[in-house]
Amino acid sequence: MKKQNWCIKSLELLLVAWSMQMAQVKEVILVTGGAGYIGSHVAYQLVQRGCRVIILDMFVHNQPFNHSWATVVRGDCGDRATLDTVFEKYHIDAVMHFAAFAYVGESVQDPAKYYVNNVTNTITLLNAMRAHGVKKIIFSSTCAVYGIPLQLPLVETHQRCPVNPYGNTKLSIELLLNDFAVAYGMQFVAFRYFNAAGGDAQNGLWEWHVPETHIIPLALRAAMNGKSFTVFGNDYATSDGTCIRDYLHVHDIAQAHVLALDYLKKGGASDFFNLGTGRGYSVKEILDMVETVCGKKIKRITGNRRAGDPAILVADATKARNILGWRPAFSDLQPLITAAYEAERARRACGNDF
Ligand SMILES: NC(=O)c1ccc[n+]([C@@H]2O[C@H](COP(=O)([O-])OP(=O)(O)OC[C@H]3O[C@@H](n4cnc5c(N)ncnc54)[C@H](O)[C@@H]3O)[C@@H](O)[C@H]2O)c1
Repeated sequence: MKKQNWCIKSLELLLVAWSMQMAQVKEVILVTGGAGYIGSHVAYQLVQRGCRVIILDMFVHNQPFNHSWATVVRGDCGDRATLDTVFEKYHIDAVMHFAAFAYVGESVQDPAKYYVNNVTNTITLLNAMRAHGVKKIIFSSTCAVYGIPLQLPLVETHQRCPVNPYGNTKLSIELLLNDFAVAYGMQFVAFRYFNAAGGDAQNGLWEWHVPETHIIPLALRAAMNGKSFTVFGNDYATSDGTCIRDYLHVHDIAQAHVLALDYLKKGGASDFFNLGTGRGYSVKEILDMVETVCGKKIKRITGNRRAGDPAILVADATKARNILGWRPAFSDLQPLITAAYEAERARRACGNDF
């Protein structure tokens, strides 16, 4: 009897030790494009949540990335041999796929470049996932899949009718994901981001696109460098004639990704979600706020409208709120632009100026 008790006790101790070890096993997330703007912020938040992050990035902007909290693999996510090595070596649990080309204008001039990097390379990634038994993927789509809005705010069921090759490549991937989920049991969340903005100066994370085309960093640089800023059209049917967009802090985007991972882990159904605040700001309101935050005036020039630019793009993000429990918390205009300004100053302080 004594011996039996001793055996049970030992077994219990072994079980406790085993479960403690299991609790320490980190979830491993492959973040393609994780050295880029949004991917790096999401990767950092995943690490804060206890995940191990493997970044696969080919550094198209030649951006510096000196963070030790992630394992960085320099390479192309369309290269099957690299993917096989990464999946085998790191035992990946899930993938977050940010890697893409994302310049609308360039996609019109060179659509082949966009279809190869965005679509063909995603097929290679998805096939590698299948081969290595990885089922979960969170994908960076865009509001550009909607094209010209027929109703506002945009809901996920709005018609998808992109007006440029960039939007077409993202819509193609959405269709692919859907088919792969049905046929191969993959689980996905595709986020249709509206306009990402802000940064994380404290942790050395910021926007780094070469060339930069996004309004907030361009307006900040115009204010800080005393350069002019061109407003593309001031005769739209909006309150002040300039275009209205829905801006979202990268911290809020990162939070949505963490929630989506939990959602998929609990067996949530594959789905598409808008990520936006539902509150739009005009180009003029952005410039006014940049001036307030920087304490400097911007020389404004009025240019022509850009082809395919809708007057207003604003998200209805009710679905992300109801299903994922996502609430944007950092995206009010003043704190958002202040965060972007601080990130811009921190980047310059590191000697990284354009
Ligand atoms: N920034 C936005 O406002 C916004 C809006 C909607 C959608 N998106 C989407 O979000 C994603 C991230 O956008 P971002 O602004 O962070 O872009 P980014 O250019 O800063 O980051 C993309 C990263 O992917 C890498 N990359 C590109 N192709 C690759 C490949 N084949 N293999 C490995 N790495 C590769 C680049 O080197 C870069 O570091 C993109 O898919 C973009 O289409 C962005």
